[in-house]
Amino acid sequence: MIKTQYKKILLILTLITCLWNALEAQNNDAMEEKIENILSQLTLEEKVAMCHAQSKFSTKGVERLGIPEIWMSDGPHGVRAEISWDDWAYAGWTNDSITAFPALTCLASTFNPELAKDYGFSVGEEARYRKKDILLGPGVNIYRTPMNGRNFEYMGEDPFLASKLVVPYVQGVQKNGVAACVKHFALNNQEHWRDKINVEVSDRALHEIYLPAFKAAVIEGKTWAIMGAYNKFRGTYTTHNPILHKILKTDWAFDGVVVSDWSSAHSTKEAALYGLDMEMGTGTDGLGTTTANHYSNYYLATPFLKMLKSGEIEESLVDDKVRRILRLMFRTTMSSNRPFGRMNNVEHHEVARKVATEGIVLLKNDNNFFPIQDKKGLTIAVIGENATRTMTAGGGSSELKPKFEISPLEGIKARYKNAKIIHTMGFASGRSVYDEVLPSPYDADSLKVEAIEIAKKADIVLFVGGLSKSHLQDCEGDDRQQYHLPFGQEELLKEIKAVNKNLGMILLTGNAVEMSWLDKVDGLIQGWYLGSMAGHALADVISGDVNPSGKLPFSFPAKLEDNAAHSFGALSYPGDGTNQYYKEDILVGYRWHDTKKIKPLFAFGEGMSYTAFKLSDIQTDKNNYSQNESISVSCTVSNTGEKTGSEVVQVYIGKSKSKVKRALKELKGFQKLEVNSRENVTANIEIPVSALAYYDDTTSNWIIEKGTYTIYVGNASNNISKSLKITIK
Ligand code: BGC
Repeated sequence: MIKTQYKKILLILTLITCLWNALEAQNNDAMEEKIENILSQLTLEEKVAMCHAQSKFSTKGVERLGIPEIWMSDGPHGVRAEISWDDWAYAGWTNDSITAFPALTCLASTFNPELAKDYGFSVGEEARYRKKDILLGPGVNIYRTPMNGRNFEYMGEDPFLASKLVVPYVQGVQKNGVAACVKHFALNNQEHWRDKINVEVSDRALHEIYLPAFKAAVIEGKTWAIMGAYNKFRGTYTTHNPILHKILKTDWAFDGVVVSDWSSAHSTKEAALYGLDMEMGTGTDGLGTTTANHYSNYYLATPFLKMLKSGEIEESLVDDKVRRILRLMFRTTMSSNRPFGRMNNVEHHEVARKVATEGIVLLKNDNNFFPIQDKKGLTIAVIGENATRTMTAGGGSSELKPKFEISPLEGIKARYKNAKIIHTMGFASGRSVYDEVLPSPYDADSLKVEAIEIAKKADIVLFVGGLSKSHLQDCEGDDRQQYHLPFGQEELLKEIKAVNKNLGMILLTGNAVEMSWLDKVDGLIQGWYLGSMAGHALADVISGDVNPSGKLPFSFPAKLEDNAAHSFGALSYPGDGTNQYYKEDILVGYRWHDTKKIKPLFAFGEGMSYTAFKLSDIQTDKNNYSQNESISVSCTVSNTGEKTGSEVVQVYIGKSKSKVKRALKELKGFQKLEVNSRENVTANIEIPVSALAYYDDTTSNWIIEKGTYTIYVGNASNNISKSLKITIK
């Protein structure tokens, strides 16, 4: 009986899908017809004008035909404030303050695709309200080294995790009739020498590690735009590299627009031939500050027109670009059922707070240091510049002008009504002005003396430290230059510990840091950059109102040389100024630590809770699979503690006997589940056998090897509850 009903439902669902697909195909045909119609009416000059910027963040429409301009803004953590027409100065508008969402590393730590959808939808609504047609984000460059100044804008070191989160983010944004622009394609894994470094990497690592999140964004997320990167790959700038044509547009059938990064185009011919559709940010005077005839000097402007007119470049090439641009317009500016967007509304603040609280990672909790009760008579000293410093400013193009930003100190004060909260800065960083760091106006010694005095007066010290989002910290344009904490924080922590035994650390960074001080702190919270609701979210977790459930989206190596890229020396990272070689190949992040048995300080997927979980009954639906089947992994998640909490069941798969090099194990599935205290729930994770394929660079093909595979199920890459064997026929 149930089976028949189930079959009926399935049939109805299939019918609805068929109908939906047919309708979509019809709409697409109609759209393509309109595109051809418009194209036939455009002059060559008008076509070329659509392929390059008319201002810092917009491109021309066609006035006489009523074809609108395209307006863009940086993301990915919120919609950037208005920039001037011709230069990088802020335009000084007063209606462009927005909601700042947590940095993408935090989103990745949630391991929660549903939240990624809410995040994408909310930021898309804000972009729409701000009248933007393309949101420049999200970024999915893989975390290869903790020195990369821009890691905080990306989704960690694992291609599967990044893929699972980028898809709903993109879909969420685009529901608003705003295009996502997934960046930076490809291999922009460091900021140092980003405009010139040539990356040499194997095809296998390219396809297995660096491209999957882009591929998912294109094929599953159906992103309408992709941004090229600054660096070169195999000798050619990635913004106009044959891989755009071959992989992105042919193999993945991407039908959207390739936008250059700002000033990443370098050649008219290559741009024309290798798939760049829209050129932005080029500085024709070498600086990008000239206003006279600035835009007409772009590679895809007058020089392009000349080559088209002389026949050196075929008109079909510009037609292809304009078709893509018009397609993007029909999906955005010229879409007839486009919503209007919203901004700074309560729902967006709630999404920002939810992502923040779910992404915060509890890494150490000796003697249940956290949560901290709000008690009369208790004095908590909040020490550290990051307790009050704005963390939405700085960092480069992702910096934001939020309507408000609750600092950690404000959030803690708002939550703790009974305890006494005292504060001092403790240390101070300098502010950066573009690529220069201004010295701090404070005297480091006096700050330290005051911090020790304050620490002595308190029952508990919460040190709010980390990086500063200024140049050479977590910031676009260059990399970090030291792995340890800057601005004398390590010393200060040790000195505070000497006068106060109860010391907790709130680490605000987008990157791993060295922790020579780890044994000095009783509790450690990785707090990322959390946006508008930062302070409230941190207080939620510190107080125990929210039980932490975040998991690290990248490994924290104990020392820098333990990281794969660094272990191969300067040619691997940062390169010699011209070339760099990704010598670790596919063994990025935990793949390296696991395979080479180099214990990280904290592992990928790691994160604690205020309750305790146990995974049991771990099993697969069968032992043998053929290549077109799926592996069903199930397990019981028991909350054996006293608090409701969420746990992330993580499924990794490896193959010990293989004809090719393999990582010990790779993440292939995960599920986040909320479990009440003393209750159980069942996790069910489906993994298509095709996901076990490796990329064979001799045949340029994905190959599923037959034989025995090991399935590892646990709640962190370094905490596997059980491993099982299965066979692929
Ligand atoms: C960044 C991009 C950004 C663009 C526009 C570039 O420097 O790399 O991510 O979208 O500027 O601000």
